[in-house]
Amino acid sequence: MVDLSMDVFGVEFQNPVMLASGTCGYGEEYADLIAVDELGGIVTKAVTPEARAGNPPVRITETPGGMINAIGLANVGLEGFKREKLPWLRDNLRRAHVLVNVAGWSVDDFVKVVAGLDEQDGFLGYEINVSCPNVEGGTMFGTDELALAQLVGALRAATQRPLVIKLTPNVADIGLFAQICEDNGADGLSAINTFPGMVIDVEARRPVIGNVTGGISGPAIRPMGVYATWKVASRVELPVIGIGGICNARDTLEYILAGAALVQIGTAMFVDPYTAPETIEGLREICARQGVDKLAHLVGALEA
Ligand SMILES: Cc1cc2nc3c(=O)[nH]c(=O)nc-3n(C[C@H](O)[C@H](O)[C@H](O)COP(=O)(O)O)c2cc1C
Repeated sequence: MVDLSMDVFGVEFQNPVMLASGTCGYGEEYADLIAVDELGGIVTKAVTPEARAGNPPVRITETPGGMINAIGLANVGLEGFKREKLPWLRDNLRRAHVLVNVAGWSVDDFVKVVAGLDEQDGFLGYEINVSCPNVEGGTMFGTDELALAQLVGALRAATQRPLVIKLTPNVADIGLFAQICEDNGADGLSAINTFPGMVIDVEARRPVIGNVTGGISGPAIRPMGVYATWKVASRVELPVIGIGGICNARDTLEYILAGAALVQIGTAMFVDPYTAPETIEGLREICARQGVDKLAHLVGALEA
């Protein structure tokens, strides 16, 4: 029997396959379709201090090899999450680990969510979405070295739980931003969030997306996600969660060989909700065929 488990953040993940933030709701939404507790884990939709309705429609549309989205962080807010969503996670996920995705527009916003959740049961740690505009600095946290350092430092002071920073690919050297997270106390890195993009309706001469621009995800971004994972894993010691365009076990292995200890699947779950369980099965088959008895041995195991 192939051992798919990964030891990350001081706990054992039964396999490396997680569901990506914003693509699996708060877990419960998939419970009628797949055995969520058989996954490595899930990452919740972003939680912000207050509930948010999100952007006006159109919020998503297909793009070549993927999709564009501008949901605008629609979510139930900190209190809604505690009251309506966390109980299901606490009662139903015993083996799959939960990371709560956190978003905000100031350091205080992020700290408020983390401090407001930290005493609760039902989740392992946090994934911090730094692809948000910083209203104080005018740039994104994830593209501003100083703002990122301050944010990670403040969050480190607010929690002892695993603190994973989700990097944006929208920078010249993602390794530098990974280094800043490591230097300021992060426990792990997720790479990557979506790429900024735009789709235009040439008949209407208007952007298709209500928000004008959005984030591109899906198979089209996979080579860039693998590259970012490899850059980050080559630069820092922290565990890396590889994300972007994963559709099956082979894609997952690309990320693992590039240095990821865990992966997340997002867009592919919209196409086929069985993608995650089939990916886990596929990992078993490929490892068995290649004579690999423990998947963890393949993390970063690229031939020179
Ligand atoms: C509809 C949608 C909503 C998303 N919402 C979030 C979010 O709230 N927070 C976040 O960090 N990432 C969010 N993402 C980004 C995904 O978690 C993931 O990083 C990205 O889609 C790349 O993975 P994929 O190609 O497997 O979809 C969202 C993506 C999609 C498609």
